[in-house]
Amino acid sequence: MFVKNCWYVAAWSSEVSQEALFSRVLLNTPVLLWRDAQGQVRALEDRCCHRGAPLSRGRLENGNVRCLYHGLLFNPEGECIQVPAQDRIPPNARVRAFPVVEKTNWIWIWMGDPSLADPASIPDTFWLDDDAWKYREGYLHYGVNYLLVTDNLLDFSHLPYVHPTTVGGDESFANLRPTIDNLANGMRISRWHLSSPPAPFVRKVTDWTDPVDRWNVYDFLVPGILLMHSGSAPANTGAPEGNFENAVEFRSAQAVTPETADSCHYFFSQAHNICIDDPQVTATIHQILIDAFHEDHAMIHAQQKNLQIDPDFEMVPVGLDAALNRFRWMINKRIEVEKNSASPAAHGQGAQPETVQLNP
Ligand code: FES
Ligand SMILES: [Fe+2]
Repeated sequence: MFVKNCWYVAAWSSEVSQEALFSRVLLNTPVLLWRDAQGQVRALEDRCCHRGAPLSRGRLENGNVRCLYHGLLFNPEGECIQVPAQDRIPPNARVRAFPVVEKTNWIWIWMGDPSLADPASIPDTFWLDDDAWKYREGYLHYGVNYLLVTDNLLDFSHLPYVHPTTVGGDESFANLRPTIDNLANGMRISRWHLSSPPAPFVRKVTDWTDPVDRWNVYDFLVPGILLMHSGSAPANTGAPEGNFENAVEFRSAQAVTPETADSCHYFFSQAHNICIDDPQVTATIHQILIDAFHEDHAMIHAQQKNLQIDPDFEMVPVGLDAALNRFRWMINKRIEVEKNSASPAAHGQGAQPETVQLNP
């Protein structure tokens, strides 16, 4: 049901400490996260191999975790190293350990075949740990299948309709056909809206009223990672040619991670590179994002409710669906490859659809 052999975002770095055991369900699996004595993040299945109690209800003992139901003790590799009242430790007394990598404030986890976990394949989100950029960490829980959230993120034509007073703006934005370019592990979606009114959120952090050139260019990667460069610049100052000198720029990192078949985690941030010494600007941008993402949250949950009422409902595809259809194809292909492979392949193989160029 999920792609396993890939890196998922499990948590913000700030969520996991040396003092407490942190639990989160990922891909239908309860996962325990904590930091060992060196501060390194560790991940085990949060289900004791004895009788299934959550290890997150246990306690840390010198970097090891003791289950506080009947007292079994596990090391960070998941091996049981002590069973009360007996010397012999059953050979199968262990819980799964997952590869984890902490990189620029995100904790990435690999839920598939550990031998395929290559940290080099983790996307670059440099702005999450760069003094030139400021942001606040965001998280939302969704009670819907994660693909309804990735659908939403793959079609920005919803911006003026769902977000008219936050990140949306002029409805002519919806009439723009994006350019969609294939990437090895996803796609790049580019939208340029030239000489348009500044969006509401840009008006909040500038005094601009004249037309701007506005862009959203983002990579959307399997399993559900959005990395975006966006912004606005006074119209005709050269932003489309790469001159961002007069621009307000944003770098967004967003990740959708399945929790169960009907729920998911949504991690997000919107970093800015103007007024970085003014915490009020960072707070304002973050609040606009929160407001906007609650608008998505409400719409997607309402959509989910309708879809659940009638599972036979058939959607009518339109051109706006090109990116999300391609992404769903990629996900299905990866799941199929993993299912059919004795040693599940880390990377989807097979023919890819042609590059979809939707610009006129
Ligand atoms: S369930 Fe953990 S020790 Fe019994
Ligand atoms: Fe949205």
